Amino acid sequence: MTWSDSAVVYEVYLRSFADASGDGVGDLAGLRARLPYLVDLGVDALWVTPFYPSPMADHGYDVADPVGVDPLFGDLDGFDALLADAHRHGLKVLVDVVPNHTSSAHPWFVQALADPLSPLRERYLFRDGAGDGPPNDWTSVFGGPAWTRAPDGAWYLHLFDVEQPDLDWTCPAVHACWLDVLRFWLDRGVDGFRIDVAHALYKRPDLADEGPLAAAVPGVPHERRHVWDRDEVLAVYEDWRRLTDAYAPPRMLVGEVFLYDVARVAQYVGPARLHQAFNFTVMRCRYDAAELAAAVSGALAAFPTPTWVLSNHDLVRHATRYGGGALGVRRGLSVTALLLALPGSPYLYQGEELGLEEAEVPPELRQDPIWARSGRTVAGRDGCRTPLPWAAAAPGFGFTTGVPWLPFGPDAAGKAVDLDPPVLQAYRQLLAQRRAVLPGLGRQVTTLNAPPGVLALQREGGLFVVLNTLGEDAEVRVPAGSLLLSTAAGASLTGGLVTVPSAATVWLRA
Ligand code: NOJ
Repeated sequence: MTWSDSAVVYEVYLRSFADASGDGVGDLAGLRARLPYLVDLGVDALWVTPFYPSPMADHGYDVADPVGVDPLFGDLDGFDALLADAHRHGLKVLVDVVPNHTSSAHPWFVQALADPLSPLRERYLFRDGAGDGPPNDWTSVFGGPAWTRAPDGAWYLHLFDVEQPDLDWTCPAVHACWLDVLRFWLDRGVDGFRIDVAHALYKRPDLADEGPLAAAVPGVPHERRHVWDRDEVLAVYEDWRRLTDAYAPPRMLVGEVFLYDVARVAQYVGPARLHQAFNFTVMRCRYDAAELAAAVSGALAAFPTPTWVLSNHDLVRHATRYGGGALGVRRGLSVTALLLALPGSPYLYQGEELGLEEAEVPPELRQDPIWARSGRTVAGRDGCRTPLPWAAAAPGFGFTTGVPWLPFGPDAAGKAVDLDPPVLQAYRQLLAQRRAVLPGLGRQVTTLNAPPGVLALQREGGLFVVLNTLGEDAEVRVPAGSLLLSTAAGASLTGGLVTVPSAATVWLRA
């Protein structure tokens, strides 16, 4: 067991967390000042989204220098200070690395584009077109073709935006340089890495056409064996694991393997590969006990250390997915309480602890490249990235003294941190209870009898969790001795019968 096997990781979407400089964009100093909030919340680790020098075409996932800090976010000294403070507070820090592509402003690509004979060209996927068109029919995840023509007539591949050329991982220099990048951050003391599109990196070498895609919705990933999830990529993570294991203490690796087939995702994880990969199966479930039960048991069977992901900076906020309003928030909290009771590592996304809903960002204020690349047909991910409201009555809601880079959602004023909204109180209680009961718990999970619409699980070591998705109270017989918590008022336990309020979860102890 390592710390990460049961860590609750909080995703800091840095641009929208806290702005100390007053330019409207969150930064490292803002995060540093707010660390006590995260300690109080009770999380174990932070995943901080990219803060490297970047033209911000994809808000930092277009990296021009993977070993620097963009002035928008601070500087390296500021990063070191943040890391030291986080460690003093007992928080681990994961940084976000982006090995599939660089920014088109990265010096390698600038040189490769300027000079067709540059040896740096081999680090990208420049290919001849087919006739006047691109080499094949591959499409960008953000919409449109995955190829753009260079001034000399060759085409380069970009699975994301035009400004995010894909690296060619068959090139040995790319491997070596990336190990150096990891060393740079490991030597500074980071506790691990979140690996962006970890399943990409290698593409089908013959560049065969993909043909029609089953779920070709821009921004929605799908199984695409021509452009990702190729077996060759696993050797990269075996190298990386050798590196992180050589540090004392060993550091951890979590991959964003955005595939829905858990059997495939599980390939990426193991004692010689990644410690964890994001499990996106629960996120896909409707608010339905049977669907949630299947996703939970599927992940427990597939992964030694499952992760639990309901939301992140690419997904519609879960309160909205579950119907929105007070009911959506209540349902979201109940599913979070289910996940926090399970073995493994839950990932929380900033703002969910306030019950934030997806914001409708007006078209003229939209920033996500998906909006432009889809020909203004897909709104994109701005609605889950609006800034965090810290203070209900302060200008800029205490997030910034300037003009925020994205507007606040309409629910910001009523859910600001300083109002201590009930959801926030519930998160604190859940995380505190989790910490208290965890030492006695094992990995085995069994399903108890429960009426349709209700999911009742028993975790080895004597924790019971009952989720009621119905529109009315539910009663379940549970061999439990005491009620630990409920995510809504009205729960009770009498004579081995627990009453669980509608759209709520209870935790009980043997
Ligand atoms: C996944 C990241 O989470 C997303 O925000 C980004 O746009 C793509 N990878 C491309 O780097």
